[in-house]
Amino acid sequence: MHDHDDTISNPSDNRLFSDIVNARATRRAFLAGSAGVAALSFFGSNSAVATPGRPATDNGNNGQGRGADKGDIGFTSIPLDGGPMPTIAPEYAMSVILPWREKIDGSGESYPYDLTSEQQEKAIGLGHDGMWLFDDDILCLNLEYGTNFHMFGRDELQSLEEVRKVQAAHGVAVVALERTGDTFRMKRDKRNRRIHVNTPVEFSGPVAGTHYLNVAVDNDNPKGTVNNCSMGHTPWGTYLTCEENFHQYFGATAEGWEPSERQKRVGLTSGQGWDWHKFDKRFDLSKNANEEHRFGWVVEIDPQKPDQKPVKRTALGRFKHEGATVVEGQGNRVVVYSGDDERNEYIYKFVSAGNWKSMFARGIHPLDEGVLYVAQFNEDGTGKWLELSRNNPKLRKWSMETILVHARMAADEVGATKMDRPEWITVGQNEEVFCTLTNNTKPYAEVRPGNPSGINSDGHIVKWVDSNKHTGTDFKWDFFAIAADVHDENGQMFGSPDGIWADGKGRVFVETDGAQPGDANDQLLVANQATAEFKRLMTGVKGGEVTGITVADNQRVMFANIQHPGNGDPEVSNFPEAFTGADGAVPRDATIVIVRKNGGIVGS
Ligand code: FEO
Ligand code: CA
Ligand code: CA
Repeated sequence: MHDHDDTISNPSDNRLFSDIVNARATRRAFLAGSAGVAALSFFGSNSAVATPGRPATDNGNNGQGRGADKGDIGFTSIPLDGGPMPTIAPEYAMSVILPWREKIDGSGESYPYDLTSEQQEKAIGLGHDGMWLFDDDILCLNLEYGTNFHMFGRDELQSLEEVRKVQAAHGVAVVALERTGDTFRMKRDKRNRRIHVNTPVEFSGPVAGTHYLNVAVDNDNPKGTVNNCSMGHTPWGTYLTCEENFHQYFGATAEGWEPSERQKRVGLTSGQGWDWHKFDKRFDLSKNANEEHRFGWVVEIDPQKPDQKPVKRTALGRFKHEGATVVEGQGNRVVVYSGDDERNEYIYKFVSAGNWKSMFARGIHPLDEGVLYVAQFNEDGTGKWLELSRNNPKLRKWSMETILVHARMAADEVGATKMDRPEWITVGQNEEVFCTLTNNTKPYAEVRPGNPSGINSDGHIVKWVDSNKHTGTDFKWDFFAIAADVHDENGQMFGSPDGIWADGKGRVFVETDGAQPGDANDQLLVANQATAEFKRLMTGVKGGEVTGITVADNQRVMFANIQHPGNGDPEVSNFPEAFTGADGAVPRDATIVIVRKNGGIVGS
């Protein structure tokens, strides 16, 4: 399980999403004269954003290239599964690529389990997560984390070399792929590279060059990205990797050290079990105070330029970024949506100052100048994007760099809505934006005494439409799906939605990470965007999560990841040995390649 599942760092009195939901449900029940939210239409009949209904049944077009893809979901939904290997719908086939320890030289070989840190820097790491395939050619793959247990069979680290090896397993892999029929492999390519915790990086935007980034250890050589969870990709062909739970790698060796209020607000403590700070003083909060400010950012990587230093785009704010979903908005401004995945944290968006092409023409990077907002949800189904800048009267005394470095505290100040762990965000048809709220596993009453609200242990998916094609400050929102209410003939279909991707043809792919009905494995589902009917396409591996999604060949191929199979324990799963025939005592995170056997669109 993720360490952050039970964390709360938000001490503000801002409204909880659950209060708004309860108030909204009551109001709607009154208006409709019936109980419950689910029975009611999403945006009301007079709304410009209502979408036409479409059944989630097979209309005979399995997307084989004859005629337009109509977004049908025709495959046979499969049962939940709890086994050590993935299962997939009968119309589909799958294979495995890019397992942990595969060399990035394209030789197809893997280093052994007891590889060195230097070898790990030249191999696929652990924690396969968000990813994107550019031009059916080069894949950027996030390597969120690999536990000490997974890498060493024990929780404690014993040397700097061991720390370096774990650090090398984190980060991003950029690898070129080649295809033969329905199989893929990493090819030899000069663009193949690994970015990890000790890779040189640079900062750009309002926080670059400020005192917040001055550190005691190796000040002139900023390094690394860590806990790279979800992602985004830009219209100019770059990859955005997102730093989520950066706080857990820091600790303090000094006796009696205590975190400041600002440090507590991002969850920093004297140590959370990773042990890096014990051997690498860069991660020792008592010796290297500002290093933590160098993490929690969105980081831009150019997959075509292996010598490019990853750039931390500070205008997008510092928090536990799950992802950074980019869309072109009104006037070709770029809009970046981002969830902060922790219980009771917020949803943000960034809008570039101008048309992204004109900004480049003027020598300004579109992710360096713009406005950062945070979301406030209202129970009448409306919402507001609250500006996080000195233009907001509540932040008039703040500097811009303070607002960005301490984005959570700025968002507290302006009255953002505390959400149930915002995870991935995607944009579907009709400018609808979807966000998974994975769960909130403890009663809210514990968070705020006297609050009678219940728990949201199964999660839900909200959707909204912003005014002015993603760039405005008003939105209308509703639920897309409440996990506890989504059933098939066998009962509840899923819990803990996390990864999400809309294909723009009417399908919404949902991946899970957390408790599933019947204690089953995490899974990949496909929903109809208009009707929210779900089918189950794939089930994952015991002890692992299903995450990351990208496509090739106009969606005739899909890639999804199995992260932490067996939680690193070979007695739970030795995935993917049965697929690759490789050495496999300890399970290896890897990427699944999914194709429809008839060559059709994946999801159809
Ligand atoms: Fe890295 Fe919120 O999952
Ligand atoms: Ca996630
Ligand atoms: Ca998650």
